Amino acid sequence: MSNSISTKLEVTKAKSTRINEVDFDNLGFGKYYTDHILVCDYKDGSWTMPKILPYQPITLEPSAKIFHYGQSIFEGMKGYKDADGNILLFRPLDNCRRFNISAKRLAMPEIPEEYFMEGLKTLLQIDSDWIPTKEGSSLYIRPFMFATGEGFHASPAEEYKVIIALAPSGPYFSGKVKVLIEEHYSRAANGGVGFAKAGGNYAGQFYPTQLAIEKGYNQVIWTDDTSHEFIEEAGAMNIFIRINDTLITAPTSDRILDGITRKSIIQIAKDMNIPVEVRRIKVQEIVEASENGTLKEMFGAGTAAVVSPISGFGYRNKDYDLPESNETYASVLKKRITDLQTNKADDPYGWRVQL
Ligand code: PLP
Ligand code: COI
Repeated sequence: MSNSISTKLEVTKAKSTRINEVDFDNLGFGKYYTDHILVCDYKDGSWTMPKILPYQPITLEPSAKIFHYGQSIFEGMKGYKDADGNILLFRPLDNCRRFNISAKRLAMPEIPEEYFMEGLKTLLQIDSDWIPTKEGSSLYIRPFMFATGEGFHASPAEEYKVIIALAPSGPYFSGKVKVLIEEHYSRAANGGVGFAKAGGNYAGQFYPTQLAIEKGYNQVIWTDDTSHEFIEEAGAMNIFIRINDTLITAPTSDRILDGITRKSIIQIAKDMNIPVEVRRIKVQEIVEASENGTLKEMFGAGTAAVVSPISGFGYRNKDYDLPESNETYASVLKKRITDLQTNKADDPYGWRVQL
């Protein structure tokens, strides 16, 4: 990749920093934003050179198509700093490519990879003081694109904006996660946009998730929209199930996000000689495994969630608890993936990118 973009990037620095307002010991998730953002506009059929600007509000026309037809996509990535102060990213090109896969599905323009990658790297270098180093914390990176072009005609906009914003963050979940297996509402349908990181996929989950939260659960696990018999994924993470010693996860499809953490965990687990099956799994199989004692673990995997152990699940008005154990695949795999991400282990895969 050339460095040509980074040298042409226009940078306007913030007049002062807000970093002193942040309590780095109590970050929460995605609540504080760094001093700068990357902004790149699409108009007249092409992308303008990305710019780094001070973090600031955006002004849009009421007729901007984002408000009416929901052309909005995003990504989630993390930046880390190792013990020597090197800035690290994890498989960033995969996020860039998935961003463009999402863009295509929503009839939005694809951004050139070097604009995304070089722009992101420059932004991270400028705001590098904001990268938390406390264990479990990182700089959450949120690239997003939305339709700024105007008109009430229900057709794709002609203008778009990409922004990358950064948020020093702690863990997404504060404790173990209790999930509700959903069989009425659906997150995604065949031929739909479930595989894309489209904002609307998340909006559609909020109401059923609120109902689940009222019943004492943290997240919904979605089942397939046709039979509701098969496990798909959770609201913000892919799902792994351990029955006896085998780790099982659903195959990706046009209803399921092709999670970067998921595919990394599959690879890492195989290399640790953990038997892995990528196959459809029925809720009934999990219920039976819970009843006969062979269901050992369930956990979610995602950028924000990292590896989040599930303490129990609800299904058809009954709660099933997962056994407690000190030797879980979740803890071994979480350690391995975070060691790779933060340069505490050699990376035989070439996944870590040092700036
Ligand atoms: N599934 C959904 C619906 C998500 O929002 C996420 C989060 O990005 C994931 C899965 C996990 O994907 P990744 O590991 O690429 O973050
Ligand atoms: C991520 O893990 O990066 C996500 O996008 C999940 C998000 C909804 C917080």
